[in-house]
Amino acid sequence: MACKLQGALTSCHSRTTKFKYQKERAAIVMPKAVVTPHTFKTKLPELNLTYVPPPPTPSLDKKALETVHEKDLPTNTSGKFGRFGGKFVPETLVACLSQLEAEFKNALSDHAFQAELAEALRDYAGRETPLYHAKRLSEYYKSRNNGKGPDIYLKREDLNHGGSHKMNNALAQTMIAKRMGCKTVVTSTGSGHHGLATAAACAKLGLECTVFMAAKDIDRQYSNVRLMKLLGAEVEAVDGGFRDAASEAFRCWVGDLEKKYHLTGSAVGPHPCPSMVREFQSVIGKETRMQALEKWGGKPDVLVASVGTGANALGLFHEFIGDGDVRLIGVEGGGLGLESGRHSSTLAKGEVGVYHGAISYLLQDDDGQVIHPHSIAAGMEYPGVGPELSFLKESGRAEFCVATDEEALDAYEKLCKLEGIFPSLEAAHALGTLDKLVPTLCDGTKVVVNCSGSGDKDAAIVFNRRFLDKQ
Ligand SMILES: Cc1ncc(COP(=O)(O)O)c(C=O)c1O
Repeated sequence: MACKLQGALTSCHSRTTKFKYQKERAAIVMPKAVVTPHTFKTKLPELNLTYVPPPPTPSLDKKALETVHEKDLPTNTSGKFGRFGGKFVPETLVACLSQLEAEFKNALSDHAFQAELAEALRDYAGRETPLYHAKRLSEYYKSRNNGKGPDIYLKREDLNHGGSHKMNNALAQTMIAKRMGCKTVVTSTGSGHHGLATAAACAKLGLECTVFMAAKDIDRQYSNVRLMKLLGAEVEAVDGGFRDAASEAFRCWVGDLEKKYHLTGSAVGPHPCPSMVREFQSVIGKETRMQALEKWGGKPDVLVASVGTGANALGLFHEFIGDGDVRLIGVEGGGLGLESGRHSSTLAKGEVGVYHGAISYLLQDDDGQVIHPHSIAAGMEYPGVGPELSFLKESGRAEFCVATDEEALDAYEKLCKLEGIFPSLEAAHALGTLDKLVPTLCDGTKVVVNCSGSGDKDAAIVFNRRFLDKQ
């Protein structure tokens, strides 16, 4: 099917009457400074080099790994990842996005910005987050296979202030909003984790915050909504789902480009939004590499993360894209099953199209209309996925699979009972693939699962489904 121009950001513009364009924004000169990604200094202890990595798993696509090396990865300076990404927006918005890109690059090469961000991540968010050896979960799987199986570790993003990985990006981007002189931050949220992180970061920096959220998500994630309001944010209810809340946030931003900053928490949207989110989330993978070295003197063999739009998956994967011996596995929301049509499995069932300003995989019908996705996890319910993940799928560098609602519920309960940890239902999708993945892995394989968020927000949903519905 030909590439469909469905719901590009242009549609947001057409409903706006107040649009203003600042000429000087277009005149911003792009900095020539070399972008040096921020590195976190952790003192490494003596390395234990006795760890011998297990042989590659039989299902590993060796051909794909041989052909994809870091040098082959497309540059993201143009916002294109292979044929994905780009900036499909009205001409007048291009200047604003260019200014945003310039500010982003300036911030990356500005030591003062990096120092302030590092301090905020450490003292406010509570980084670094632990790489936790889930011993009882590992034992559970080993006990089903004569005591053999992988060692499972959790990257505890749920322990960040605000309860998720979303804080990493929200802190950095609110700092950029302030540098740009914007007084109000607008955003959208599905699970409420990104809304909560943004509301908190705005309170910290003295910025106003408006969060757009689907009415049905306000209902099912109310504990996060309550906190957003207590933190001083305005929460605007939107008909439809997370995708409609995202469109509404774009419209609000386009209505007042001078004063408002659109803070995306998803790895989607026009360039530079996906690259910014990926960059600010990449701390997850950088820490994981150092923590793996400290703990077993090697790299992880397999990384697993849930895929809503790709923020937490890219955050974990990006550091390891050039390490062909590390498997990258993304898990999409399988909802009621792929054949039911009621799922959020964009990479499994989507086709290439344009949505929210970029080319990517997208769930759409034969007429190019975007299909309403479904997932028990509000944060997985987006009909698209980020361009970088789309590229990683197409190049074969990353593998993707799905976990259904029921599998996520099972994983939530399992982690509660075996480890005393309650994962968000989004993170429970990553854990929900372990039943199928673990039997294919060799003894001693080091698996890191991104526990992207805390599941207190989902306790009522799981409790009702697992206890009340069965009475
Ligand atoms: C805790 C958590 N994990 C995962 C996701 C999925 O989004 P993404 O794929 O962009 O990380 C969300 C989205 O809201 C979330 O709140």
